[in-house]
Amino acid sequence: MKIKFHHLPPLLLLLLWYNTHQHNVQAQLPSTIGYNCTANQSSSPCDTFVFYRAAPPSFLDLAAVGDLFSLSRPEIAIPSNISSPASRLLPDQTLFVPIKCSCNTVNTSVTISYSPQNFTIRSGDTFYLVSTISYQNLTTYQSVEVVNPNSIPTQLNVGDVIVFPIFCRCPTSSQRQSGLNYLISYVFQPSDSLSAVASKLGASEQMITEINGADINPYDTVFVPVSNLPNLTQPVVPPLSPPERERKGAVIGLGVGLGVCGALLILVCAVWWYRERGGVFKDVEKQQQRKGDGLLKAEKVSLMADVSGCLDKYKVFQVEDLSAATDGFDERCIIQGSVYKGKIDGEWYAIKKMKWNAYEELKILQKVNHGNLVRLEGFCIDQEEGNCYLVYEYAENGSLHSWLHENEAEKLSWKTRLRIAIDVANGLQYIHEHTRPKVVHKDIKSSNILLDSNMRAKIANFGLAKSGCNAITMHIVGTQGYIAPEYLADGVVSTKMDVFSFGVVLLELISGREARDEQGNVLWASASGVMDGKEERKLREWMDECLLRESCSTDSVSSVMAVAVACLHKDPARRPSMVDIVYALSKSDDLFFDVSEENGLSPRAVVAR
Ligand SMILES: *[C@@H]1O[C@H](CO)[C@@H](O)[C@H](O)[C@H]1NC(C)=O
Ligand SMILES: *[C@@H]1O[C@H](CO)[C@@H](O)[C@H](O)[C@H]1NC(C)=O
Ligand SMILES: *[C@@H]1O[C@H](CO)[C@@H](O)[C@H](O)[C@H]1NC(C)=O
Ligand SMILES: *[C@@H]1O[C@H](CO)[C@@H](O)[C@H](O)[C@H]1NC(C)=O
Ligand SMILES: *[C@@H]1O[C@H](CO)[C@@H](O)[C@H](O)[C@H]1NC(C)=O
Ligand SMILES: *[C@@H]1O[C@H](CO)[C@@H](O)[C@H](O)[C@H]1NC(C)=O
Ligand SMILES: *[C@@H]1O[C@H](CO)[C@@H](O)[C@H](O)[C@H]1NC(C)=O
Repeated sequence: MKIKFHHLPPLLLLLLWYNTHQHNVQAQLPSTIGYNCTANQSSSPCDTFVFYRAAPPSFLDLAAVGDLFSLSRPEIAIPSNISSPASRLLPDQTLFVPIKCSCNTVNTSVTISYSPQNFTIRSGDTFYLVSTISYQNLTTYQSVEVVNPNSIPTQLNVGDVIVFPIFCRCPTSSQRQSGLNYLISYVFQPSDSLSAVASKLGASEQMITEINGADINPYDTVFVPVSNLPNLTQPVVPPLSPPERERKGAVIGLGVGLGVCGALLILVCAVWWYRERGGVFKDVEKQQQRKGDGLLKAEKVSLMADVSGCLDKYKVFQVEDLSAATDGFDERCIIQGSVYKGKIDGEWYAIKKMKWNAYEELKILQKVNHGNLVRLEGFCIDQEEGNCYLVYEYAENGSLHSWLHENEAEKLSWKTRLRIAIDVANGLQYIHEHTRPKVVHKDIKSSNILLDSNMRAKIANFGLAKSGCNAITMHIVGTQGYIAPEYLADGVVSTKMDVFSFGVVLLELISGREARDEQGNVLWASASGVMDGKEERKLREWMDECLLRESCSTDSVSSVMAVAVACLHKDPARRPSMVDIVYALSKSDDLFFDVSEENGLSPRAVVAR
């Protein structure tokens, strides 16, 4: 499998818009640090909405607004009654943005009700500008200062993540009893009157004053009590024309990291890839396939509109270009399954062709952005045929599986194997420790590890990935020979199942044998005896012969073997974490270099390209 995914650095390329229209309200700047709450309020936290106005130049599409609030486009489009999330917005078009409101303790004397939003500082941003322009006065710079006591407002660096407290309130239990389910956060405009706001949102003027007091100034956040979210009637806006979208996609793509939806996309792709490559448990797959076939074409198209809404962080390819790159999707260009190799503008890409029927399944990966995870470059949607194409950077050297088990002519040196092990461990450590909620890959195996032109390893195929730990699954998926026993027995999903599978990959690297042989015997079952009694002889018999010929350090090999054995512990709780593993493998790496230097041996050339 020759694929490489791309992830772009974190998003937010929104240009600042300086409002030239000055209102004479300097004296009325909201100087509050936020709205009091009692932490034991029974109704907090709650789901609520903010009233947001689309504004030029940066906030004229749902993706830009979604980025501000860490939401996908459909999450805003649905409450706002926008049928096509891909369409652009008109200036002043109104949106209901869903937020989660909670009561937050700042220090012993101050508790404020707000929805925390992470915002990555760009060049030129200040607390004031982001609060008043991007967040449209739904917070104040004073409140931002209080909530981020460790950030110095005058010394912000590009890339700092600042929590912006979006003002909100949860209804008290008595308000709830009288049928008021939401307090919508609404920024009072200089042109607004209380009665206009009340009628716009279908609320009672009297209730608004009861909750907010009578002294309401322009740009104050007022909480408008309603029993249901008001119906918005949206204007019909023509969709962005293709060239415009493409340019935009490319620009945004430059700046930023794989957002929620990009990850979802990888997932769609990977689910598909997995199905096509054939996993172990075919029945589950067939069932899902049938479900997909049952979808009406119209539904598919609308699913596409939903998902395509998330995609404008990536390059948008035209189907004609992809077709030209692959000789009209000729068989000769197939790498594997429905993945084609194609050259576009002088660059090689891996192009995966797929249909989708998996929107429901797609809410797992939040953020992946790491050099040891394969990277998505762009996508293409063919509305007519109902196809979607995902475009990945091409991994020149294919899968680790093919290097270990199919390539008789060239063998990987121990040094290369060790580096591959460390790369994979780093990638796994990232998804286990640095994503929230944690992501479990669930299908770590040598064929899902791809090698780039420098023989650096990247983890591919997040098709079975699950977020959240200690979940229980109904369908057992994965690949025999790599599946952790507790998962097979009880369906328990935890990061430790990836640790187990990683242990099996280490065994493959050491022994050069398949995880499961033709008779169906699993490799890990034979590993436990190897390290018994500390006999080097046993290990040498078990090791890949070509490593013996290479006269590599047995110390280094045996320390990696010890890591593998620890990973394969029956009790998941006693397996090491990926952090420990990265540390231990780096030690083995040192050992290797020490030995080769001492003996004056230089490691054999890695491999020919
Ligand atoms: C909010 O709390 C502060 C400090 O406890 C208090 O001075 C202020 O009156 C409170 N405001 C409201 C509206 O309850
Ligand atoms: C919240 O806690 C305060 C003291 O901590 C108490 O006086 C108050 O009655 C509590 N309110 C509710 C609704 O439990
Ligand atoms: C915001 O950042 C904090 C700290 O890094 C993290 O715990 C939280 O999950 C982030 N929130 C979102 C919505 O990403
Ligand atoms: C926010 O408030 C400031 C004054 O406090 C005003 O100049 C600015 O235009 C407001 N922003 C928006 C988007 O209305
Ligand atoms: C709590 O925070 C507020 C706002 O930053 C500050 O004015 C107050 O002195 C702080 N109180 C304590 C006890 O730290
Ligand atoms: C909004 O629309 C729904 C159905 O279209 C209707 O049942 C509901 O009463 C409307 N709500 C308001 C506040 O107009
Ligand atoms: C949604 O908007 C359309 C116009 O775009 C309008 O006809 C329809 O009534 C709205 N639906 C609701 C539930 O308000």
